[in-house]
Amino acid sequence: MPTKLYSSIFPSVVFLSLVFLFLYSTLLPLYTNNHSSSPPIKMFLRSFSSSCNLFNGHWVLNSTKPKPFYDEACPFHRNAWNCLKNKRDNMGIINSWKWVPKDCRLERIDPWKFLGLMRNRNIGFVGDSLSENFLVSFLCILRVADLGAKKWKKKGAWRGAYFPKYNVTVAYHRAVLLAKYKWKPKQSKVSDQDGLKGIYQVDVDTPADEWISVTDFYDVLVFNTGHWWGYDKFPKETPLVFYRHERPISPPLGLLDGLQVVFENMVHYIQKEVPKNTLKFWRLQSPRHFYGGEWNQNGSCLFDRPLEEGQLDLWFDPSNNGVNKEARALNHRIKEALEGTNIHLLDLTYLSEFRADAHPAIWLGKKDAVSTWGQDCLHWCLPGVPDTWVDILVQLIHNNLGTE
Ligand SMILES: *[C@@H]1O[C@H](CO)[C@@H](O)[C@H](O)[C@H]1NC(C)=O
Ligand SMILES: *[C@@H]1O[C@H](CO)[C@@H](O)[C@H](O)[C@H]1NC(C)=O
Ligand SMILES: *[C@@H]1O[C@H](CO)[C@@H](O)[C@H](O)[C@H]1NC(C)=O
Repeated sequence: MPTKLYSSIFPSVVFLSLVFLFLYSTLLPLYTNNHSSSPPIKMFLRSFSSSCNLFNGHWVLNSTKPKPFYDEACPFHRNAWNCLKNKRDNMGIINSWKWVPKDCRLERIDPWKFLGLMRNRNIGFVGDSLSENFLVSFLCILRVADLGAKKWKKKGAWRGAYFPKYNVTVAYHRAVLLAKYKWKPKQSKVSDQDGLKGIYQVDVDTPADEWISVTDFYDVLVFNTGHWWGYDKFPKETPLVFYRHERPISPPLGLLDGLQVVFENMVHYIQKEVPKNTLKFWRLQSPRHFYGGEWNQNGSCLFDRPLEEGQLDLWFDPSNNGVNKEARALNHRIKEALEGTNIHLLDLTYLSEFRADAHPAIWLGKKDAVSTWGQDCLHWCLPGVPDTWVDILVQLIHNNLGTE
């Protein structure tokens, strides 16, 4: 009897399992925006010797967490992010939250050990001001191990430092779209479009001058772009127009499709031209936390604690069409462009989504900054969340270079 029952149920169980597996594998990729534990990331991480996911976890308030490595006196600060100097409220609490990954340990960077590992090697960041925010945190932390650190701006770098004790350079190359772009004023005769003042020509297949010729210099490269791809930076009077081989792409591409074509071309260039043994990362979007309106509509971020996990989708899921939806929307396209490459994902989005409490907000160090620019709910206070980004990046670099 049991055997008979078993044999009649068994085929249906197998069938149902197959159906389930099929649905699971087809539907799951559609939800890759939501979480860092999604399959593509696991796939990329497999190449790391320790295959744990540092990007998924939660923040724990821990008042015995060691103090940040640096304070307001670090010479590499940018004034608007120097929240201690600008007397931002809550800096003690902001830096008492600790990121605890779910299935593995995140070590705090040991600047002496790390610079020792990097001796005679260089690290480059390429992208927008969020990369610069990341860099400043990195420089201020590394300086602890070499107080002789000097500002370094060669080879087209926007900001950087040289650590003479270890012969290590860490620098940022500003290339907000990654691709080359230039302003072209309207030619007087062509005036068929309302209010058009000119265009920005984006050469989708050409890296910006700021980084095209320096990739040989770096042993580790960290790319990003994303925060400039909006109609606030490029309104319809001064739009981006996408070109290939010096001719406008036809039919013209919208902003997001143009972005995707640029991603694909930049990724292709990196794969082809950057030396094979250079360790390459692509940092996913840093989320913004404007509450109650956009940056130019009095949007604010005066929070005194991180968001709860249950709030994240409400804030960031594109289907809710909120002010801060673009990070996940762009991540989806970036992940697609990176699939099958040896560029490692640095998925700092999810952990940063929690930290509505950690932006400079109204503490910008200048009297009229808020009325002119609005609150800063985009960049991060330093010391602050980017210090955790540094810990994660450094652990991944150790995993890759430490075994040589
Ligand atoms: C707080 O941090 C300290 C030092 O890193 C650690 O030993 C302790 O276990 C942490 N406490 C909690 C509650 O996580
Ligand atoms: C410093 O590092 C560079 C590589 O970045 C290397 O070419 C140079 O020889 C090193 N200098 C010294 C003094 O070791
Ligand atoms: C922003 O706030 C100021 C002062 O409270 C107000 O005058 C202005 O109309 C507000 N702007 C928007 C877009 O809500």
